Amino acid sequence: MIGIFDSGVGGLSVLREIRKLLPEEKYIYYSDNAHCPYGEKSQEYIIDRAREITRFLLSQGAEIIVVACNTATAAAIATLRKEFDVSFIGMEPAVKPGAAITKTGVVGVLATAGTLNADKYHMTREKYSEGVRVVEHIGQGFVELVESGETSGSRAEQVVEASLKPLLDQGADTIVLGCTHYPFLSDTISRIASRLVPERKVTVIDPAPAVARHLADVMRQEGLLPCGDGPGTDLYSSGDGSLLNKLYKKII
Ligand code: DGL
Repeated sequence: MIGIFDSGVGGLSVLREIRKLLPEEKYIYYSDNAHCPYGEKSQEYIIDRAREITRFLLSQGAEIIVVACNTATAAAIATLRKEFDVSFIGMEPAVKPGAAITKTGVVGVLATAGTLNADKYHMTREKYSEGVRVVEHIGQGFVELVESGETSGSRAEQVVEASLKPLLDQGADTIVLGCTHYPFLSDTISRIASRLVPERKVTVIDPAPAVARHLADVMRQEGLLPCGDGPGTDLYSSGDGSLLNKLYKKII
């Protein structure tokens, strides 16, 4: 079984890509929506949540765990790797592919405060930003929009525009989605970008396909494929599970 967790439904954007590569496997997905958002919480808090969820996923038979949350990866993956004898696959804002494709030389990163303030992110930016300028903005209110199922419409557009515009104003033509909730807003992000800077081709990058490829490679190397009595996904949430069930049906 492949275990996946996030603070909410955002990790479904990662599960969607993983299932394209590994459609026959069995998955267990945990949405920690009773404790969402993680973005402004302390590192200790997120480590405690990640530890508890990991124990649960392992007790259900997970053989590998995808931390389908940038914030939890930045805060907790090093600790999880030390404490548990199983492989963890994490998320990383796609600064490297962003730097490779930008034409204006400016890469915009949207992520939570937790991700943008973490050493892990600073190291990624340092390593891959040679020759380009990386500008960042918190996707203020984005997670709340996705968790309320409101990914389009005028309120969603207003919220997205407030965080996207500063990046476009600084010249970004590449927007890296550094939070797994944000791909559910990518149509809205693209629409606003083409309205605000019609002369510029703006590319939105979701790291999930690369993470899915990496997971498949690691599972092959570790001899974990095929995995579980799939196909299928067991869905769990610490709060109300109705959005999780609804969105899951949309992504499969
Ligand atoms: N999906 C999480 C991430 O990738 C959401 C963060 C949150 O709960 O604030 O960072």
